[in-house]
Amino acid sequence: MKTKINTIQEYEANFSKAKNQPELFWQDIASQFEWSKKWDSVCEFNMYEAEFSWFSGGKTNITENCIDRHLKDKANQTALIFEPNSPNESAIHITYKELHHRVCKMANVLLGLGIKKGDRVAIYLPMIPELSVSVLACARIGAIHSVIFAGFSSSALSARINDASCKLVITSDGGFRGNKTIDLKGIVDQALKDCPCVNNVLVAERTNTEINIIPSRDVFLRDALAKASDLHLAQPMDSEDPLFILYTSGSTGKPKGMVHTTGGYMVYTAYTFKNVFAYEPGDIYWCTADIGWITGHSYILYGPLLNGATSIMFEGIPTYPNPGRFWDIVDKFKVNQFYTAPTAIRALAKESLSHVTKYNLKSLKVIGSVGEPINEEAWTWYHKNIGKGKCPIVDTWWQTETGGILISPIPNVSPQIPTYATTPLPGIQPVLMDDYGTEIKELKGEGRLCIKYPWPSIARTIWGNHERYKETYFSAYPGYYFTGDGALRNTNGMYRITGRVDDVIIVSGHNLGTAPIEDAINEHSEIAESAIVGFPHEIKGNALYGFVTLKGNVESPEKLKEAINKLISAKIGPIAKLDKIQFTNGLPKTRSGKIMRRILRKIAEGNSDNLGDISTLLNPEVVEHIKNGSKQSN
Ligand code: PRX
Repeated sequence: MKTKINTIQEYEANFSKAKNQPELFWQDIASQFEWSKKWDSVCEFNMYEAEFSWFSGGKTNITENCIDRHLKDKANQTALIFEPNSPNESAIHITYKELHHRVCKMANVLLGLGIKKGDRVAIYLPMIPELSVSVLACARIGAIHSVIFAGFSSSALSARINDASCKLVITSDGGFRGNKTIDLKGIVDQALKDCPCVNNVLVAERTNTEINIIPSRDVFLRDALAKASDLHLAQPMDSEDPLFILYTSGSTGKPKGMVHTTGGYMVYTAYTFKNVFAYEPGDIYWCTADIGWITGHSYILYGPLLNGATSIMFEGIPTYPNPGRFWDIVDKFKVNQFYTAPTAIRALAKESLSHVTKYNLKSLKVIGSVGEPINEEAWTWYHKNIGKGKCPIVDTWWQTETGGILISPIPNVSPQIPTYATTPLPGIQPVLMDDYGTEIKELKGEGRLCIKYPWPSIARTIWGNHERYKETYFSAYPGYYFTGDGALRNTNGMYRITGRVDDVIIVSGHNLGTAPIEDAINEHSEIAESAIVGFPHEIKGNALYGFVTLKGNVESPEKLKEAINKLISAKIGPIAKLDKIQFTNGLPKTRSGKIMRRILRKIAEGNSDNLGDISTLLNPEVVEHIKNGSKQSN
C-alpha cells in the first residue's frame, strides 16, 4: 500500500483531506485493493439511526486481498510464524503459498459440511495455526466467523453460539497455556448440550489428549482435510456483507455480538496497520494478543496479511517457562514491531531485569500498547528497557466496536507523551462532551469521548439487535458515536484516555461487564443481591470487588467466597473472578432503587472518608456498615 505517512506535514495533509473530503480520501486507499466490482458509493450514513455503509455495491473477498494478491511476488515469503507454548517445540513458518493451500483446503472442508455464505461458524481454538486458517477459510466462503476466546467457560460459549445460531463449531482436543493443558473439547461438549443449532464439531488435534467423540456430530479435521481439494475460488462478497461477529461485554448480562462487514473493515485495518506500526516490507511483526479478541483479528491476521507482512502468532503466555519468554522470542525472530498490553508490561516489569538484559532486542523499531490506559511507570519501563530509549511507543486507543485503531501516535512522525494515546488518525474526529452533553470546544478539557463522523471499520450493528446498538452507542449524544470512555485533551489537542465511564471494568486488558458477573453470583441460593466495582491493581490495572448481600446468615464465609468464584468461573471464565468479596447487609440505593456504584467504588478504592452527600439515599445507614466491614475485611 502506498499510503504511508512519513512526516508531520504529511500527517496534517492526510488528516485534513480525510476530514474535508472523506470520500476522496478513503476511495484512494480502497482502490489499492482488488475488487471484482467497484463500489457505487464510498460512504452513506445516518448517525441518528446508526446506519453505515462503506463502498457499497463493491464486491471483493478479503482473503483474496490477504493471500492471493501476494502470490505473484511473495509466494515464498512467510505470512505467519507459529511459536508454540513450549520453547522446546519448533516454530512453524507458513508462507503465503502454504497459507493459500491450507485456507483453500479448509474452505472446501467447510463447504463439505454444508456451510454456506452467510452461515455462522463458532471458532473455539487455542492460538494454533488452525485458528488463523479457520478464520480465513470462513471469510473465503463468506461464512461469518465468531471467534470465542478459548478461556471462556461452557456457559459463556453456549450463550455466544446460540446468540448467532452457529451451525458449526471448530475446536481442538485441548490447548496448552504455560504449564496447563485445557480440555477444550470437554468444554465444547458441555456447551453443546444447550445448542440445538449446531450440526457439527470440527476437531483439530493439538494436545493429543483423550476426548469424547460423538460420531454423528464430530469430525476430525485431519480426516476432513485429507479428503479436501486445495482448489477454491474465493466467494465474491458485497462490501457490506458481514465478515465476522465478535462478542464484547455490555451493561446487561447478554454479550453484544458486534458485527463487522467486509470492505470498510478491510480498508481501515490495512491502512492503520501500515501507518501505526510503520511496517516496511521484510519486517517481522509480533502482536501478543489472542485472536479471540479484536486486537488479534485486526492486527495479527487481517491488517498484517493485507499488507503482505510476516506476523507471529504465539500460543503461550509471557511468563512461561520464565518471564524472559517475550524477549527470547523477539531476539529469536528479530522482531521489528512488538505490540502488547500494559498488564503484561506491568507483570514483566516486576520481575528481575536480568530476564530482559539477557537479550539484545536490537531488531525492535516500534513498540506498542493496547487495551487499557498505560500508567507512566509502565510506559517508562517499556521505553527504557525494551525500546532502549529509541523505539517510539504507539499507545493505541480503540475498541472491539471500532474495528481498528482510532487514536495513536505515528512512529517517528507525531510526538509522544507517556500515558497519552495522542492524536487521532486521519479520518477520525474525536470530541469531548461535557456533563450537559455539549461538545467542549476549547482545546484543553476533560469529558466523555465521542466520535463525530463514521470511519470505514465502525461496527454496523449488534447481531440480532439493532435497537440495542443504537441505544448503547448513539443515544447518549445524538449524532455522535459514544465510546463509553472518559478522556482529557491537552492544549496541543492530544488525548489521554482516563478509563471507562460505564459499567464495564477492564481487568488485565479484558473488558468485563459488571452485570453478567452479578447475574452469575445471584444464582447462588444463599445470595440476595450483589454489586461489582473495580479498584486499582498493580498488575491487572483494575481488579474486581464484590459487595454481596446474603439472604440469611452464613456459616462459613470463606467457603461461600470460594463458591462465588467457582460460579463466576463456570458462568463466564476464570478471568472474571473477584479479588475481594465483602458480605454486607444491604447495598446503597437511590430512592428509585438503583445501586449507587459511585459510593461502592470509593469504598473499594479505600477512599471511604470522601463519599460526598449520601443523605438522598434510600438507606444511608447501610453505608456506615459497609465502610466498617471493608476496613475489617481488608
Ligand atoms: O476503555 C478503552 C480500553 O479498552 C476498551 C476497549 O476494549 P475492547 O473492546 O476489549 O478492545 C480492546 C482492544 C482494542 C476501550 O473502550 N482501551 C483500549 N485501548 C486503550 C484503552 N484505554 C486506554 N488506552 C488505550 N490505548
